[in-house]
Amino acid sequence: MSSGQGFRWRTVVEVGLISAVIYILIGAPGLPAGILPGPSAKEKDAPAAQAKIESLVYPEKDLRCPENEYDIHVFSTAPLIVYIDGFLSDNEAGHLVDISDDKWQVSTVFNEGVEVTDASVRKSEKALIERDDVVQCIEQRALSIQGWPKETFIERLWTQRYNVSGHYALHYDWATSSKSSRRVSTFMVYLSADCEGGGTNFPKIQKPDDAKWCEYVECGETRDEGVTFKSRKGAAVFWTNFDADGRGYKETIHAGMPVTSGTKIGLNIWSWYQAGHRVG
Ligand SMILES: *[C@@H]1O[C@H](CO)[C@@H](O)[C@H](O)[C@H]1NC(C)=O
Repeated sequence: MSSGQGFRWRTVVEVGLISAVIYILIGAPGLPAGILPGPSAKEKDAPAAQAKIESLVYPEKDLRCPENEYDIHVFSTAPLIVYIDGFLSDNEAGHLVDISDDKWQVSTVFNEGVEVTDASVRKSEKALIERDDVVQCIEQRALSIQGWPKETFIERLWTQRYNVSGHYALHYDWATSSKSSRRVSTFMVYLSADCEGGGTNFPKIQKPDDAKWCEYVECGETRDEGVTFKSRKGAAVFWTNFDADGRGYKETIHAGMPVTSGTKIGLNIWSWYQAGHRVG
């Protein structure tokens, strides 16, 4: 009898241990990111974190912004992906192109924390634009659409120009993240779309069923996997990079498809969560 009981207890302990191992293997659902050891808990990146904080922007105190009407179409909810037609007015889009004009420089990518140019990954030019009132109002519109999430700030804006064969290979926007700081969301905005190609492709996201989407996504014969949002002047594709537990959404892997004729000019608006950070 006693040996039988001992056997049952061992079984209970074993089942408990095996469950704990499985729980950790599946990524410990329910625990915020960064509690388990791993690439997300990067305390050693303090200088990079400081540089990031210095790139965050804040509105001037007396900033007044005009109303702007846009059309919102929710594409999916997890991750949240929204197509925003008319995110920028024609005038705003044209203005951003104009103020980029004398500032273009070759785009870079980060390879293991080192900034490099690599045309096989990213072939485009970028411009750091001045933060005039139009630009500051766009920054504020991006926060307003998200409902002013706490301790979340806009990163300094750069425009991007893609000539023929310009592209950006598949990547995530959430690469650098930790429990206390991460790029929570992305707006991919099209400023000028006098081009063929140049859409934004999400290979892991299914095409929509309803043909109404064909105004905003590629519906014809295409070799693209998944869904490709069309570049449309003034429109934006918005998406969240993390789930509620702070884990990066693998489905947000995306690419800027090659431009096959003409030129595409885009604008990325990234929102950065920085725990404990206050407006300076
Ligand atoms: C891209 O095209 C513009 C003109 O549309 C040109 O001024 C610029 O030099 C081109 N950039 C590259 C990298 O070829």
